Amino acid sequence: MESENQSAFDFPWMRRGSGRRTVVLAVGGGKGGIGKTLLTANLGIALARSALKVVLVDADLGGSNLHTCLGMELPEVNLSDFVGRRAERIEDTITETGVEGLGLISGAQDFLGSANIKYTQKMRILRTILTIDTDVVLMDLGSGTSFNVLDFFLLADYGLVMMVPEPTSLENSYRFIKSAFYRSLRHREKSEPFRKVIEEAMEQRNEHHIRTPYDLIRVVSRMDPERGDMYRAWMLAFRPLLVINQVRSKDDEELGPAVRAACRKYFGIDLDYLGHIAYDDSVWRAVRRRTALLAEGGESATISSVWGIANQVLERIRELEPRLAQGAAG
Ligand SMILES: Nc1ncnc2c1ncn2[C@@H]1O[C@H](COP(=O)(O)OP(=O)(O)OP(=O)(O)O)[C@@H](O)[C@H]1O
Ligand SMILES: [Mg+2]
Repeated sequence: MESENQSAFDFPWMRRGSGRRTVVLAVGGGKGGIGKTLLTANLGIALARSALKVVLVDADLGGSNLHTCLGMELPEVNLSDFVGRRAERIEDTITETGVEGLGLISGAQDFLGSANIKYTQKMRILRTILTIDTDVVLMDLGSGTSFNVLDFFLLADYGLVMMVPEPTSLENSYRFIKSAFYRSLRHREKSEPFRKVIEEAMEQRNEHHIRTPYDLIRVVSRMDPERGDMYRAWMLAFRPLLVINQVRSKDDEELGPAVRAACRKYFGIDLDYLGHIAYDDSVWRAVRRRTALLAEGGESATISSVWGIANQVLERIRELEPRLAQGAAG
């Protein structure tokens, strides 16, 4: 069991209003192979082209390949150098991507998988990511709902959840959203009996028959009504951004609003739906040519949809940090 001393750590709910700071974004979604890395790469390019200084972080510790989606060779320095203290500052591991204003911290190559990273190493990475001197840090997450993946997701001011129109992806995304919310409660709750209830909720089969965040809040409210209200407020503040990828039909296009409605109805969690990206051969062709879709320029419906998503993310970044409305880092 990992040690849970969070005292020196800043999750977004701990760092509101703390002056100038880096805006942190993450792309997750539970399932593998659904386009998380692709979106991260292209969103990074879009934000950098919008005059922001952006550092991409390949936080897929078990299978980093963000450099490939950017058309880069494997960078010579990466997160392992920071973890292994060969690089003194995390900034020393940033590699230029060829896109102005866009740097990359490549994923660690010598962890066998995110499950193997030590708790203290993870906390050091998480803490240091917040200090990177840039406007925006955008993290590409691995698949699954391990604590390591969830903690990177929860570090972000805005977490994007990616989903494709397949039942397996839907299932994984619901699990991801639910797990991330429970994990955020687990970080915030200091009282042992309530921590136990949250941990129980994380198990599929549990004594209190908790199956959704609603159920959890009901159980907690019965034990302590004020606490129940507090959890409800935390639930309202938990608003992942939803993106649907690989859309192939009109029915698929309706998935985003449907998922949003289902999440609100059954979980009580509000998602912000940012839009969809079509299944498009030009997307995987770009990967094969070792380039990013947005790097080559040109116009297409798919490129416009990525820009549409990027512009909505940009709006949220500026809401959080109005100084970035002018563009470049101050
Ligand atoms: N909109 C799309 N249209 C066509 N192909 C796509 C689209 N999105 C993703 N792909 C294909 O899916 C592949 C997997 O995408 P990507 O590597 O971004 O997924 P991932 O979610 O990061 O996977 P992992 O969890 O394994 O890291 C891409 O290389 C590309 O070929
Ligand atoms: Mg990936």
